[in-house]
Amino acid sequence: MSSPSKNTPAGSPSPDQPVIHLSGLVKQFDGRVVLDGINLTVRRGETLVIMGASGCGKSTLLRCLIGANRPDEGTVKLFGKDIWALAPKELDSVRRRLGILFQSGALFSSMTVGENVALPLREHTDLSPEMIDLMVKVKLELVGLREAENQYPAQISGGMAKRAGLARAIALDPELLFYDEPTSGLDPIMTGIIDGLIMDLSRTMNVTSIVVTHDLKSAFRVADRMVVLNQGKIVTEGKPHEIRACTDPFVKRFIQGPVEAKTAVFPKSAMEKPEREETTLSTLREAIVKAEEDGRAAEVQRLKKELNKLESVASGEG
Ligand SMILES: Nc1ncnc2c1ncn2[C@@H]1O[C@H](COP(=O)(O)OP(=O)(O)O)[C@@H](O)[C@H]1O
Ligand SMILES: [Mg+2]
Repeated sequence: MSSPSKNTPAGSPSPDQPVIHLSGLVKQFDGRVVLDGINLTVRRGETLVIMGASGCGKSTLLRCLIGANRPDEGTVKLFGKDIWALAPKELDSVRRRLGILFQSGALFSSMTVGENVALPLREHTDLSPEMIDLMVKVKLELVGLREAENQYPAQISGGMAKRAGLARAIALDPELLFYDEPTSGLDPIMTGIIDGLIMDLSRTMNVTSIVVTHDLKSAFRVADRMVVLNQGKIVTEGKPHEIRACTDPFVKRFIQGPVEAKTAVFPKSAMEKPEREETTLSTLREAIVKAEEDGRAAEVQRLKKELNKLESVASGEG
C-alpha cells in the first residue's frame, strides 16, 4: 500500500472514495416511517445541503449520519466504513473525525466559551495546556469570537453561541462537519455571517460539510449540491441551479417560497465578516518561532497548519 498523502489520513483508502455513502436507509419511530429508503453519496470537500419542511426528518437523517441514531434498515458508511459493523473503539475513532454543530449550540453553561472549546482538545489530545490555550484562541479567531473567550454562554447572544459551538466543533480539525439548522433564530446579518463562516471553513480547512436547513436563502448561498427531502425520500438532488430549474411540483412549491429565497442576491451588509484581531496571528507566529527554537517539530507543524488557516481566512476578507 502506498503511504497516505497529506489530505488522506490513514484509514482512508482513496481520496476519490466518498466520505459518506448511505444506502437503503430506513428509520422509523413507533412504527411510523420517517426515512424511507435514502441513498446518498457525499464526496470529499463538497458542501451538501439537506433541505425539507419542518418535521420531515432532516435532523433524524443527520443523527443517522453521525451514528447517533441506528437505522432500522440500510447501511451508513463513513470514510468507507460501515459504522454499525465497527467495534465501539473503531466507531469512536471515526466519530473523532466528525465535527457537529447542534441546533441549540449545546454549550456547557458552567464553562466559559474558551473552556467549552478546550474540552475536546483536553479529552482527545495530549497537547500541553499552553498549546491547548493557543488552539482555543485560533479556533475562536477563525469564527471571529476572540473577545468572548472568558464569557459564559448566558452572557453571549444567540449568534455568538452558534459561533462558539462552531469553534468547539472544529477544535479537533474534523474532516466532516455537520450543521443542524445553523442559522435558525438568527437575524439576516448574523445569518450572513454564519453562512460566510461555513463557506470559509470549507475552503480553509478543506472540510466536507453537511448543512441541514429549512432556510432557503442560506441553503442556496452555501451549497455545492442540494437534496430535498419529502415524505421520507429524497425527491430531488442537484446543484443549486438544477434545483431552481427542477420541475417536480413539490420542489417547485418548496423553493417558490419568499421571493428573496429564489434570487440569492444579498445586501452587502449581510455578507459582512466578523472582525478579526491581528493579535492571534502574531501570538501564533511567536509560538512557532519558540517551538522551532526548542526543536518541538510536531508542535511547529501543528501551529503552522493553524497559521495557514488563519492567514487564508484573513486574506479572503480583503
Ligand atoms: N426520538 C424520536 N422519537 C419519536 N419520534 C421522533 C424522534 N425523533 C424525531 N421524531 C419524529 O420524526 C419526525 C422527523 O423529525 P426531525 O428529524 O426532527 O424533523 P426535522 O429536523 O426535519 O424538522 C417528526 O415527526 C418527529 O416527531
Ligand atoms: Mg430538525
